[in-house]
Amino acid sequence: MANHNTTIHAHWSSRITFILAATGSAVGLGNIWKFPYITGENGGGAFVLIYLLSVAIIGIPIIMAETMLGRRGQMNPIATMEHLAKEAKVTKLWGYLGWMGVLAGFIILSFYSVIAGKTIAYALKIMTGFLSQLNTDMVEHAVMSLNDSIFALTLWHTVFISVTMYIVARGINEGIEQAVKFLMPGLFLILLILVAYAMTTDSFGTGISFMFNFDLDSVTGTTFLLAMGQAFFTLSLGMGAIMVYGSYLPKDISIGQTALVIAITDTAVAILAGVAIFPIVFANAFEPSMGPDLIFKTLPMAFSHMFAGNLFGLMFFVLLIFAALSSSISLIEPAVSYVVEKYEISRQNACIIAGALTWALGMGTVFSTNIWVDATIFDKTFFEVLEFISANVLLPLGGILMAVFAGWVMTLESTAEEFEVSKESFLFKLWRILVRYVAPAAVTIVLIAGLF
Ligand code: TRP
Repeated sequence: MANHNTTIHAHWSSRITFILAATGSAVGLGNIWKFPYITGENGGGAFVLIYLLSVAIIGIPIIMAETMLGRRGQMNPIATMEHLAKEAKVTKLWGYLGWMGVLAGFIILSFYSVIAGKTIAYALKIMTGFLSQLNTDMVEHAVMSLNDSIFALTLWHTVFISVTMYIVARGINEGIEQAVKFLMPGLFLILLILVAYAMTTDSFGTGISFMFNFDLDSVTGTTFLLAMGQAFFTLSLGMGAIMVYGSYLPKDISIGQTALVIAITDTAVAILAGVAIFPIVFANAFEPSMGPDLIFKTLPMAFSHMFAGNLFGLMFFVLLIFAALSSSISLIEPAVSYVVEKYEISRQNACIIAGALTWALGMGTVFSTNIWVDATIFDKTFFEVLEFISANVLLPLGGILMAVFAGWVMTLESTAEEFEVSKESFLFKLWRILVRYVAPAAVTIVLIAGLF
């Protein structure tokens, strides 16, 4: 393996562990509860097509750009951006792009952890028989009392952050790689079992047609925005997560091919999640509700009316925990690698600091459903403000700037060299066009529309 004279000590031990880690980052809560719902509500098959197009023309070029920046920089996102800016003889201010990513990672992880904590609480409830004979009142009550309980929310948030930081503290090879080698196969297996289970219901066809029915009438401008926004968030783009994973990528691995594998796997998981969820919901004559309600109310009710619902319901929540965990480690790795490399403190200590800060910020999300429920800014709770700033502002902005840096600031020669392709190759030229014009323009539209 190439020996780079930098402060990054580790490299992925193989192509497959990089793919597992990056796919683990991409496959998260966004795939399992958000994608199925927005697909169903926005024209089904038509939405899927627009989404696939967004993945192809925005997602894949930016994954490639982000990975390429990381691998060329060989350091944490902040140092990488400063180094690459120096190499390109432009202002060091590009380092702030790295900072923005670190900040976005903190913010996202702070609320992600509270939601993931709730899925842990649910998994445990299910183990103690929560799903037997569940009715509407009971499920409403369960959600309300969990949201009211500062103690329970804090407890599971603390557990989730601690597990995340424990994995990250063990480092790339002993921590992140080991975790994703276990979590990702587990996730795929559970998902396939749930799909098979959904196939045994009478409403498999109804569920499928809810998702794939080609309804052109419900396609509007908003559909395009939602599809692009989803493609972006679900691929973990724009905050340096993929960049820092790219910095651990050995030189001899093809960035284009791995980007393609990551994008396809992430999309497949999102689609399979819908294929598993909707038949189960329809089998019990429920309406698919949105976001958290779908997961915390509708699905538990549906499972509770089904054969072996306890077992399969539990599997579903374990699936969510796995998906959330493999994403959360990528949200904090940019910050941890920065602290380790900049201040030369141990990874363990860096994790304690980063974990404590994220934990503290996460308490704001804990309070958002109880004592701070009415403390709103622009009608948004603390949690909703964080979600808005990160997903609607920081990530798209980060994505545009990375595309601009890779496409306009870096020279044609240095990018071609990092991709290990000829400047004349067709795919390289295509990537340049997408990353210079198409992706920045499209994401700018998403950014501006998202603000209003
Ligand atoms: N992709 C994850 C999901 O779909 C969320 C996520 C993890 C993320 N890491 C990220 C989003 C980095 C943006 C940037 O749930």
